[in-house]
Amino acid sequence: MTNNKEKHWLVVAFKIIWLLVDLDSDTSVPVFQVCEWHSPEQLKKLLDLELRDRGEPESEILQRCRDAIRYSVKTSHPRFFNQLYAGMEPYSMVASFIAEAVKTNLYTYEVAPVFTLMEDAVLRKMIKVIGWEEGGDGIFNPGGSLSNIYAVNLARYRYCPDFKEVGMFSAPRLVILTSQECHYSISKGAALMGIGTKNVYTVPTDERGRMIPSALEEKIKLAKSEGAVPFMVNATAGTTVLGAFDPIDEIADICEKHNLWLHVDACWGGAAIMSKKHKHLLKGIHRVDSVAWNPHKMLMASLQCSAFLVRDKTSLLQRCHSARASYLFQQDKFYDVSYDTGDKSVQCSRKPDAFKFWLMWKALGSRELEQRVDRALAMARYLAEEIKKREGFRLVLEPEFANVCFWYLPPSLRNLPESPELWKKLHTVAPVVKQRMMKTGSMMTGYQPLGEKANFFRMVVISPQVSRQDLDFVLDEIHNLGKDL
Ligand SMILES: *Cc1c(COP(=O)(O)O)cnc(C)c1O
Ligand SMILES: *[C@@H]1O[C@H](CO)[C@@H](O)[C@H](O)[C@H]1NC(C)=O
Repeated sequence: MTNNKEKHWLVVAFKIIWLLVDLDSDTSVPVFQVCEWHSPEQLKKLLDLELRDRGEPESEILQRCRDAIRYSVKTSHPRFFNQLYAGMEPYSMVASFIAEAVKTNLYTYEVAPVFTLMEDAVLRKMIKVIGWEEGGDGIFNPGGSLSNIYAVNLARYRYCPDFKEVGMFSAPRLVILTSQECHYSISKGAALMGIGTKNVYTVPTDERGRMIPSALEEKIKLAKSEGAVPFMVNATAGTTVLGAFDPIDEIADICEKHNLWLHVDACWGGAAIMSKKHKHLLKGIHRVDSVAWNPHKMLMASLQCSAFLVRDKTSLLQRCHSARASYLFQQDKFYDVSYDTGDKSVQCSRKPDAFKFWLMWKALGSRELEQRVDRALAMARYLAEEIKKREGFRLVLEPEFANVCFWYLPPSLRNLPESPELWKKLHTVAPVVKQRMMKTGSMMTGYQPLGEKANFFRMVVISPQVSRQDLDFVLDEIHNLGKDL
């Protein structure tokens, strides 16, 4: 549970919001709901979005602030499980306020001396935790999707150094290999970067959603036999839906053999590396070329906080992205310009996201971060065991990580024989339960189909502010909302 020191900071963080909008005194606000649902048309009316010639008085503006909070989804609520982030991390939130108030841009040491050093310190620590003995490089990006896109760009730059200057006209047909289960940011990235979604070859996964190494090798051979050039493999540590971990060690063997860049998307599962008990899930990560890891997910840093890490120490990141803008990155400055890290990025303005992770890590220590991961996985275990005990609930598979995927069968379906008919009916249950849950505002969790599988719920427990009672409530509530279907 949260200790006293943490509670204190939680109160500080909330007080800032309270001070801003005096929410306490507004008794009309249903504080215990996760969300207060309105259709876009209704909400537009409630918010009065129009911007006018004349400014509004302060009392109106305060009301606008209250409304912004009131109608937003409360992702810090202990019954919000809809995404891979949740809960309130008070230190990180305080860091966000400070970063906004100080308002600076992380491109040069000159304008962001403190945050430049903090980013460097956090990246070094993450590199150490990953186990890259000889060091590495990295940068914080606005989100894991961008970190994954950086991986593609770097892998391609290493493979075809001319690409940066002459563009695609210098390159053969390049192919990326990724697992069937991979996040959609790979296809987006391939489209954005001119590789083309058809040149993303998907590798089949096993029944638990993990990439099959022998199938990977076959796809590499297939690409080569077509005259294409496979240049990178994208493995996943913690897939978005099932929470599956690709076998990194075996994939690394294949990548070494074929000289392919190995990127690991650990946006979600990266946190496991903080835990002695669970870091085996990422076994082999010290051998990979790059990693995307989002501290804003399981470790609960404020949004956004996403690191892209590279094992290379030959300034590949810098060389790949630099444009050497002479008005910003003058080489004849009076200090060590290697601290002007902005040219490693494709952005110009960049927020000091590392600070949000640095402050909480400072306050909690690696030990507490480890305990949070262990606790999140223990809660997932608890939920999975409860699901097995309850009538009408069925696990999609035994959870490997914090993702608990399950079906709810209303009593009307419980005695039907296993048949396509049953699955067709079951497919329609989750969307209706979700609709009802949104309208009552009692909780939020997501559902999705997967391959041939009928719509199922995915629960992820992240926040230490969630208790076992909250998880019992989730199962009771899904039953209450869906028992008449
Ligand atoms: C969340 C997630 C992403 C995308 O990260 P964003 O920060 O939301 O852009 C990519 N890959 C995996 C596996 C994820 O879980
Ligand atoms: C790799 O797979 C992951 C996870 O499934 C995905 O998020 C990412 O976008 C993929 N692509 C690249 C290029 O990393």
